[in-house]
Amino acid sequence: MSGAEDGGLERHTYDVVVIGAGGAGLRAAIAAHEAGARTAIVCKSLLGKAHTVMAEGGIAAAMGNRWPEDNWEVHFRDTMRGGKMLNHWRMAQLHAQEAPERVQELEDWGALFDRTEDGLISQRDFGGHRYARLAHVGDRTGLEMIRTLQQRAVALGIDVFMECTITELFKDGESISGAFGYWRETGRFIVFEAPSVILATGGIGKSFKVTSNSWEYTGDGHALALRAGASLINMEFVQFHPTGMVWPPSVKGLLVTESVRGDGGVLKNSEGKRFMFDYIPEFFKSETADNEEEADKWYDDKKNNRRPPELLPRDEVARAINSEIKAGRGSPHGGIFLDIASRRDAEFIRKRLPSMYHQFKELADVDITAEPMEIGPTCHYVMGGVEVDPDTQESAVKGLYAVGECSGGMHGSNRLGGNSLGDLLVFGKLAGEAATAYTHELGARPKVAEDQVRSASAAALAPFEVEGGENPYAIQQDLQQAMNDLVGIIRTGAELEQSLQEIERFKERARTMVVEGHRQYNPGWHLAIDLRNMLIVSESIARAALAREESRGGHTRDDFPQTDHDVWGRKNLVVALDETGEGVQLSEKPLPEMPDELKKYFDA
Ligand code: FUM
Repeated sequence: MSGAEDGGLERHTYDVVVIGAGGAGLRAAIAAHEAGARTAIVCKSLLGKAHTVMAEGGIAAAMGNRWPEDNWEVHFRDTMRGGKMLNHWRMAQLHAQEAPERVQELEDWGALFDRTEDGLISQRDFGGHRYARLAHVGDRTGLEMIRTLQQRAVALGIDVFMECTITELFKDGESISGAFGYWRETGRFIVFEAPSVILATGGIGKSFKVTSNSWEYTGDGHALALRAGASLINMEFVQFHPTGMVWPPSVKGLLVTESVRGDGGVLKNSEGKRFMFDYIPEFFKSETADNEEEADKWYDDKKNNRRPPELLPRDEVARAINSEIKAGRGSPHGGIFLDIASRRDAEFIRKRLPSMYHQFKELADVDITAEPMEIGPTCHYVMGGVEVDPDTQESAVKGLYAVGECSGGMHGSNRLGGNSLGDLLVFGKLAGEAATAYTHELGARPKVAEDQVRSASAAALAPFEVEGGENPYAIQQDLQQAMNDLVGIIRTGAELEQSLQEIERFKERARTMVVEGHRQYNPGWHLAIDLRNMLIVSESIARAALAREESRGGHTRDDFPQTDHDVWGRKNLVVALDETGEGVQLSEKPLPEMPDELKKYFDA
C-alpha cells in the first residue's frame, strides 16, 4: 500500500466512542457501558500504556483513614488554594466530595492498596494537602489503577481499538457524529459513527524537551476539540513537576515521585543547605514551617506543627529549585539534591518507594537508601484543557466531552499532586454517564457525510504528497527546544513573543514536511500527523502566557512577578480556533461565581 492508495476503509457504529485509554478514558468507558451504551475505546498506544502510571504517589481523597479531621471541605479548600483560586469551584467541589467513593469502588474492583495498621486504605502526605490523604500502592498507584480499570473494562467486554490514532472529529451541523482515524500498523483508515465522543487523550508534554510524558502526549484531544469548535481554558498553566531525573541524559525528565518528599525526603543545594526555607511565599506562610525542627515534627503531629516547605505546592517548589540551580548552587549534572537516605532507614525506603529504588539503581547506578538523588523540574502536566460543563464534562460542541488532563478548569493555575487520579475517576464516571444519557435521549442520530470522510483521508495523506521538504523529526526537535527555552518555568513577554514567531516558522516548515515510504507502520507519518496538534497546542500555551501579565501557579512572568488578584484573579483566558483554522485567538471570560456557602472556607 503506498501513501496514495486508500487501502480500504473500516467502519464501526457505537453510541459512545472514548478516545484515550488512560485512567480517565477507562473510567468513562466503564461508566458508559454500565449505563447501557454501546461503547468503544480507541487508543493510539498499547492498552495500559498511559501517563496515569506517572501519577505514582497516590489518589487524593479525603477518606480520613489517617486523620479523621479530614473531610471534603478541607480537600476542596486545599485544591482551590493550590490552584490559586482559578479553579472552577464546582469541579473542585465535585472532586472533593466524590473522590472517596471512587477510591472505595476501585478497591471493590480489585485494586490492592497499602494498608494502615488498622487495616484501612493507607494515605500518605503530599504537597499542598492539609492531611495525609493520598490512597496509595507503594509508589505505583497509577499503575495499579490502570491495571484495575483495564481488567474491568476487558471483563465487561468493551471493544478496544489499540494502536489506532484519531485524526479528525465529524460533525453533523452543530453535533458530533463520529471520528476518523487510522491503524498505526497498517495505515488503514477507520471511521467511527457515534453521536458521543469522549476525549481522554491526556496532556501535551511532548511539546517540551524535558518532560515526564512519553511519545503519546501530543495534545491530540486539545487539538481535536479546537478543530471541532470547542474552546480551551487555562492553557498558560503548565505544571513543571519539581522532581524529574537529570542524569543520565537518556532518562532526563523521568518522574521522581513526590512521595519521596511526602515520606520525609528533603531538598538540598550543593552547599548542603535545606534551601526551601528561603522560598516560603506569603500566601502559604501561615501553614508552612520556617524551621527544621517544626518541619520534621509535622510528619507525626500535624495539629501542633506546620507543613515542611518541601511540601509546598509544586509550582512553588519547582521555581525554588530553578532559582537555586540558576544561582550556581546546583548538583554536578545540573539539578539539585533530593535526600531521603539520611532521614529514613533503608527498609522503610524500599517498602514505601520500591519503584524509585529500582529506577535509580538500574538507570543511574544510585542507591537511594544510601545517597541523595539528583533531580530537576520536568514538564509533567497541563492544567489547561477543553472547557467543559462541570457536572457533565460536555464541551460547547453537542456530544463532545472531555475528561482528565485534556479537560480544563478543575485545577485552576496549579494542580496538587494526587488530584489527577481523583479527577480522572470522578469526572470519567460523570462523563460516561452524561454521554450515554445524551445518546439515549437523541431522536435521529447525526450522520457522517462522505465528503467529510474524503477530506479527512486527504488531510491525513497530505504529508505523502510533498516533495523535497523537511523531516518532521527536525521540526519536532526545534519546537521542543523552543518551548523549553521560551515558554518554560520562568517566562518573559519578549521570549513569549519570540516563541510565537518561532511557532509560525515551524508551521511554515510543517506545511512542506516530507514523509517517505508508505502507510504501513511509518513513524515519520505518525509524527507528521501529531505535529499538527503539537503546533496548535503550543501556540495556545504561548499566546495565553503572553496575555496573562501576572504570575500565578504554573505561569511565572519575570516581567510581571506579582499575582494580580484584582485584574487576573477574576477571569479565565479562553482559546478558540481563529478564522484561518490554523491559528488560535484569545478571549476573556469571568470566573464562575462561587456560592456563599463555599466562600466561607476562604474568609481568612
Ligand atoms: O509525584 C507523583 O507521584 C505524581 C503524582 C501526580 O502527578 O499526581
